[in-house]
Amino acid sequence: MSTTVSEPVRELDEVALGQLFTQAHTANSFDETPVSDEVLERLHELTVMPPSAMNIQPLRILWVRSPEAQATLGALMGEGNRDKTLAAPLVAVLAFDAQWHEHLELLAPFRAAAKDTFAANEPMRVGMAKTNAAIQMGYFLLAARSLGLDVGPQAGFDAQGVNAAFFADNGWQSFAVVNLGYPAADGAGYRERQGRLEFGEQTLTV
Ligand SMILES: Cc1cc2nc3c(=O)[nH]c(=O)nc-3n(C[C@H](O)[C@H](O)[C@H](O)COP(=O)(O)O)c2cc1C
Repeated sequence: MSTTVSEPVRELDEVALGQLFTQAHTANSFDETPVSDEVLERLHELTVMPPSAMNIQPLRILWVRSPEAQATLGALMGEGNRDKTLAAPLVAVLAFDAQWHEHLELLAPFRAAAKDTFAANEPMRVGMAKTNAAIQMGYFLLAARSLGLDVGPQAGFDAQGVNAAFFADNGWQSFAVVNLGYPAADGAGYRERQGRLEFGEQTLTV
């Protein structure tokens, strides 16, 4: 992973901003083209770079690759989310790991001495994991769009059931399911754009 920037940082052009933000839509169906393992590794590489508190990176990702696993997950989706999850070329379960402190020497050597304090305070670890994994979910969605993928994030599923089915051994806790794939040629499955709050409604200046 390179840490050097070879060219001056400048604002992205409208095409790039459109792909990430202004033209992109949440997808409910996809082209049938499969998503390769190389693309998933690149997606991970991009997702882990933006900021998280103390660099703890609590997001964990389960790539649901086998038809059996996809069927198991499908049965745990809310009714309105089931068919599109079963039909998606690839599905990722997003979870958080409350044991993030075990990686502290690597992730935050400047705070490694606090490892025992975090180990003794599970509520604090869970709170930090939830907040920061949610932040990382946003990075994941935008990273996927930057690689030309469409994303269908969903919170409507049986999280306890998913944890029991997939995370009984590692204790990860699921909080989102994201359908992924290349855009359908006709944009099938995009909903009409819904409203966005205005600058004056959502911000204050002091
Ligand atoms: C955390 C999260 C949870 C969501 N849960 C669901 C869901 O369970 N089912 C669903 O159909 N859409 C779900 N969505 C999709 C949103 O409704 C959609 O992204 C939003 O309306 C914006 O749509 P647009 O990208 O087409 O403008 C979810 C999105 C996010 C980020």
